[in-house]
Amino acid sequence: MKRLAILGSTGSIGRSALAVVDAHPSRLQVVALAAGDNAALLADQVRRYRPEVVAMATSDGVDRLREACGAGGSATMTGGAEGLIAVATHPSVDIVICASAGTAGLEAVLAAIEAGKTIALANKEVLVMAGALVTDAARRRAVAILPVDSEHNAVHQCLHGRKSDEIRRLILTASGGPFREFTPDALGQVGPDQALRHPTWQMGRKITVDSATLMNKGLEVIEAHWLFGVSADQIEVVIHPQSIVHSMVELIDGSVIAQLGVTDMRLPIQYACSYPERWDGSLPALDLNRAGRLEFHPPDHERFPCLGLAYRALRSGGTLASVLNAANEVAVAAFLEGKLGFTSIPAVIERTMNAHAIEGVSTIDVVRRVDAWGRAYAREMAGELELTL
Ligand SMILES: NC(=O)c1ccc[n+]([C@@H]2O[C@H](COP(=O)([O-])OP(=O)(O)OC[C@H]3O[C@@H](n4cnc5c(N)ncnc54)[C@H](OP(=O)(O)O)[C@@H]3O)[C@@H](O)[C@H]2O)c1
Repeated sequence: MKRLAILGSTGSIGRSALAVVDAHPSRLQVVALAAGDNAALLADQVRRYRPEVVAMATSDGVDRLREACGAGGSATMTGGAEGLIAVATHPSVDIVICASAGTAGLEAVLAAIEAGKTIALANKEVLVMAGALVTDAARRRAVAILPVDSEHNAVHQCLHGRKSDEIRRLILTASGGPFREFTPDALGQVGPDQALRHPTWQMGRKITVDSATLMNKGLEVIEAHWLFGVSADQIEVVIHPQSIVHSMVELIDGSVIAQLGVTDMRLPIQYACSYPERWDGSLPALDLNRAGRLEFHPPDHERFPCLGLAYRALRSGGTLASVLNAANEVAVAAFLEGKLGFTSIPAVIERTMNAHAIEGVSTIDVVRRVDAWGRAYAREMAGELELTL
């Protein structure tokens, strides 16, 4: 029996993780859950999975959770950053599934690593903002970071423990998002509702917008660097609208190994839970006869500049990736509120990156300070570019 903590259990990945638990009740047990604001859904999960400890982002959330659980809730309930850490480090936990949105999970991920927990990482922002700190800590504590992101999970499967000096290139696939074929003029007109309609994946709001701008792939390029120890030049992105090939690895002898599967996050989540074993899946099998053609195209950096900004942040090193991430979160939130145009998202990020004096990522305090600066600066830039509605 592997015992799980899930950070972000009420989200898209969190709910898929619980579906994996449902499919493997004799192998997986939930012992700790954390959510942001959705007390009603977390209370349902508490009733169903009976975790030992649960956390919400705020004390107000904890009060609502207590009320929603009523007398039936015997779990320890806690809030804020400390609550998230308590969930991630609970002594009975073996694997921490890190699926909270944004950057709130960074301290909890670091604490889980210090506590020797295996990390199943969906929350790519943690590696983008503090990849050096997280991977150093994992190496020092000999803790495995197993990627849940489908592309990195695919790479992990293709590599199957191979060393980084046997890798020539990683080839990350991208669906291209809903605006893959839009003209620059048409991109200027798109609103949140259109951006939230992803052609192949069902995901949370922020990552869905990131997929539409190709920033999601940019964040994944940085994530791949930290997870697999490869340089920016060794990471290629290819548009693959069918999202069947989840990613590929080219080895130094020229062989290209690909992982294929249905577009369902339960597959990579289960892999991260079962690793190094494989378990029977309850997922529909991939039917290549019905899949039709598999297409691959280069990405268009002119129409989707976010990808290039992420490569620039990775090549520059230091805190620039933290700033990219912070500015992106601010710009996406403004876009979702209808206050910023779609094509202004990269403009906000680029202006913020241009204004940043890069430092080394030496401590978590540096990361948090730079993150706060990036957000404040990006808010100013978003204000300057604000849409008049
Ligand atoms: N969805 C996918 O297919 C997918 C694929 C690859 C990687 N990822 C990554 O996985 C992460 C989660 O994505 P998602 O699509 O599942 O997002 P989502 O549906 O928006 O869910 C986010 C989760 O984080 C929780 N949360 C927000 N703030 C929190 C805080 N301060 N403390 C604790 N929990 C907090 C939310 O709680 P409430 O809902 O209760 O507020 C929710 O449970 C992201 O980093 C994303 O890039 C997602």
